[in-house]
Amino acid sequence: MNQLIVGNWKMNGSLAANAELLAAVCQGLATAPASDVAVCVPMPYLAQAQALLSSTGVAWGAQDVSSHEAGAYTGETSAAMLRDFGCRYTIVGHSERRQYHGEHDDTVAVKAQRALAAGVTPIVCVGETLAEHEAGRTEFVVKRQLSAVIHAVGHCTSEIVVAYEPVWAIGTGHTATPEQAQAVHAVLRAQLQAATPRAQRVRILYGGSMNAANAAELLRQPDIDGGLIGGASLKASDFLSIIASCRTA
Ligand code: 13P
Repeated sequence: MNQLIVGNWKMNGSLAANAELLAAVCQGLATAPASDVAVCVPMPYLAQAQALLSSTGVAWGAQDVSSHEAGAYTGETSAAMLRDFGCRYTIVGHSERRQYHGEHDDTVAVKAQRALAAGVTPIVCVGETLAEHEAGRTEFVVKRQLSAVIHAVGHCTSEIVVAYEPVWAIGTGHTATPEQAQAVHAVLRAQLQAATPRAQRVRILYGGSMNAANAAELLRQPDIDGGLIGGASLKASDFLSIIASCRTA
């Protein structure tokens, strides 16, 4: 299975800046990349991503989805709406949602369910905070977070993407070492293996200060199946260089 590189633009961009960035990324990918590539853009730009990327090999998605199906939920965006705009993916449970919007494991699990039901692949984020890391609770935390989703989606577990994003590595420049990341990915893989016979096809991405300089070593680890890239996905040359660091199948 190809590795998967996903850009998480977070709350960045404008119509003009996005057009420039996507044109540069598509141009840079003119020779078929060895990996799958996607960008998760702010909701208002989904239509733009759909228009600019439909005839390219780059997929697009959202950064969040409502846990509700439809109705009186002001400000929310449903999974069916994401599907309407051609989203292949949506991030769920990003640590910034957990931290600033009080999202708990059970909400994240319902969001993953909603996405799957609409034919959108959830990229389920798990990761420990610095305090949890220092207290030696990494394994406990990520297993708890993933377990809520596995429990909710059942036999569809093989359809999800998982992203391990240590909170202390996000936007800080402090990347997990390849060995640290691989060790957590192996724990997550074992957990998936206990849940589905098709765990090997679940891609487990690493995220947290991944950049052009450190991507290759991370992406060489056996259980690192790609990356979820924040800051470095906003610069075409950096994003392309990370894509070029992927293992060839
Ligand atoms: P950075 O790559 O900016 O550290 O962000 C990682 C992230 O949160 C991706 O979802």
